[in-house]
Amino acid sequence: MADCANKGAMRFVASTDAATVAAGCDRIEWADRDMPVLASIRERFARERPLEGMRVCACLHVTSETANLVRTLKAGGADVVLCASNPLSTQDDVAAALNEHYGVRTYAIKGEDTATYYAHIDAAIDQRPHITMDDGADVVGRIHASRTEVLEGIIGGTEETTTGVVRLSAMAADGALRYPIVAVNDARTKHFFDNRYGTGQSTLDGVVRATNRLLAGRTLVVSGYGWCGRGVAARACGAGMRVIVCEVDPLKALEAHMDGFRVMPSVEAARECDVWITVTGDINVVDEAEFLAMKDGAIVCNSGHFNSEINIPWLEASAAERRTLKPLVEEFVLENGKRVILLAEGRLVNLSAAEGHPAEVMDMSFANQALCAEYLVQRAAGLAPGVYPVPDELDDEVARLKLASLGVRIDTLSGEQRRYLMSWQMGTV
Ligand code: ADE
Repeated sequence: MADCANKGAMRFVASTDAATVAAGCDRIEWADRDMPVLASIRERFARERPLEGMRVCACLHVTSETANLVRTLKAGGADVVLCASNPLSTQDDVAAALNEHYGVRTYAIKGEDTATYYAHIDAAIDQRPHITMDDGADVVGRIHASRTEVLEGIIGGTEETTTGVVRLSAMAADGALRYPIVAVNDARTKHFFDNRYGTGQSTLDGVVRATNRLLAGRTLVVSGYGWCGRGVAARACGAGMRVIVCEVDPLKALEAHMDGFRVMPSVEAARECDVWITVTGDINVVDEAEFLAMKDGAIVCNSGHFNSEINIPWLEASAAERRTLKPLVEEFVLENGKRVILLAEGRLVNLSAAEGHPAEVMDMSFANQALCAEYLVQRAAGLAPGVYPVPDELDDEVARLKLASLGVRIDTLSGEQRRYLMSWQMGTV
């Protein structure tokens, strides 16, 4: 099912040769084996076609898991275009398979420069979507900044990640957001699992794949103790690392302390750091002061959405020497003679150096995405512009389906227990 990949002036995907397409198809099928919730929604969508006639512009990490989401949206009747939500996270074989085998126009090339990244987003927006599906809010940002001509056709959107929800909430607070967006990230079946277990495992996987360093016995500094930071710290602890947490929120800092981690200011942590992982969603969390205090040879990387958490411009401007040691591993020698090792250009190390969150957790995140697209078709007309939570019924349904797929059974409340929970008369007996 050949699409028109790489025709005309713009390159859409890195390759469309048969071997790459076949590798992408295998990888997509491999992920699908661990995505039973999404598969069950896909079967229902194929019968009921709830997205018939909808044009969906999805700006997501182009991975095998995303491919299975796109297949589900298509099964529901949607016309889907896909572009990358990060210049370094694309799996080129998956992009090739989507274009050539699944007939989904995909604009994504691993390692694309910033101009190409935005050209691909613009090409996807040219589809004139009814629904936008973002991971980091770059499509919504682009549409509101320079592509306002497509606004009138849009019924709503979804957002996959914490950073995107933060940006969209800021837009809504400023009165700038022009359509309703469902914050998929905030579903419990999303962030309890994907952000915590997914980021935790895949981030360490990225560090290990890039460096092949032993984790046991090394000191890890984690900046940020949200769901992602908690996951990274827990997995690192399990791998035998000594974990230090840096956090600005007093409650989260206290939680990290009671979870058994050392908590301290960044500059102090820098002196002990072997590996530093940022997951804050903020800017310049590792800055000049941290670099100057850092131990020689410290490895620094980021697993937050944007490459803004590490002050790379400072590093580039201040380093006396710079060289690439191996793919995605760059060494900067500072004027004080100390070496700083930067992984994956400061972009998401879990998606750049590894393969992102495992399919088992993306199953729930993307089940939420598919159900929220259906929800928007049914309900968006009644929603004012703003950021909306995933309805609890959808979240609970995803949890029920996941438990069933895992063969885990649970108790149900008896009538007496349900009545008790709704009553107030009975106290100490
Ligand atoms: N975000 C984190 N991991 C991902 C994956 N495997 N696919 C798509 N988006 C992701």
